[in-house]
Amino acid sequence: MTLERLQVEIDGVVARVWLNRPEQRNAFDGRMVTELRQALFDLGSRDDVRVIVLGGRGKAFCAGADLAWMQALAGFSREENLAEAQSLADLFFTVYNSPKPVVARVHGAALGGGAGLVAACDIAVAALGTQFGFTEVRLGLLPAVISPYVLGKIGESAARELILTGERFEAVRAQEIGLVRAAVPEGDLDGAVDGRVRELQIGGPRALAEAKALIREVSWRRVEDVQRYTVERIADVRAGEEGREGMRAFLEKRKPRWVP
Ligand code: COA
Repeated sequence: MTLERLQVEIDGVVARVWLNRPEQRNAFDGRMVTELRQALFDLGSRDDVRVIVLGGRGKAFCAGADLAWMQALAGFSREENLAEAQSLADLFFTVYNSPKPVVARVHGAALGGGAGLVAACDIAVAALGTQFGFTEVRLGLLPAVISPYVLGKIGESAARELILTGERFEAVRAQEIGLVRAAVPEGDLDGAVDGRVRELQIGGPRALAEAKALIREVSWRRVEDVQRYTVERIADVRAGEEGREGMRAFLEKRKPRWVP
């Protein structure tokens, strides 16, 4: 697929995916949704890629859904409207469910679906001064398909306040509520992201994919309901090639072979 709305750079084991529609502050339309979904899916299945970084070109990370696109959707048939909403939901799930860790590099603004993308990533690092907001209700809309990821990251209390007011808030607040993990001066943003990327290369690639699935499965479930699953996962993973290598390396006082 020719990329019109994205740039993808592969740098060793790190894939950097840039939203690249800067004049519209990387607001996503149907084309960007399709490209991003496809790119993340493809990168997720590549053995040579171990970490994905998602960022935005220009002044902002992402201004959310393209409101001209949303307006056009309002005039579609219900089936077409549903299909577009489904493809948007699939995009967020593809980010969340990627077998690779996804780090969000956030600057400028992350609003509406842009804040939703941040929530769907595993780890987000933001520049101080970045404007966040779940602004949908102010537009008469809903943060619907992003809500599972937003609630998962910031919890019901902050979600009730921020979704209902639609107010904009700054990176420090985003860090306090857990939407991002760090808020750093803009000049330090790439260094802070690189720091996370390095840490993510110390874990076994298969173990990281399994850990993401584990977190997803166990979140919000009763211990009794997930215990059998957790027992099976550790039994399989420690008997697997990577688990054996990791334990052997520790006992032999050397690095596992996946560590750069
Ligand atoms: N959909 C469509 N176009 C958008 C957009 C969106 N979500 N967000 C920004 N744009 C467009 C603007 O209309 C403007 O277009 P123009 O140059 O043709 O006038 C262009 O992007 C630049 O936006 P501007 O507001 O001038 O840039 P800024 O740097 O001053 O501010 C934002 C950037 C992101 C803070 C601001 O554009 C904004 O608040 N956008 C709305 C975000 C929002 O509420 N999204 C939720 C959608 S559900």
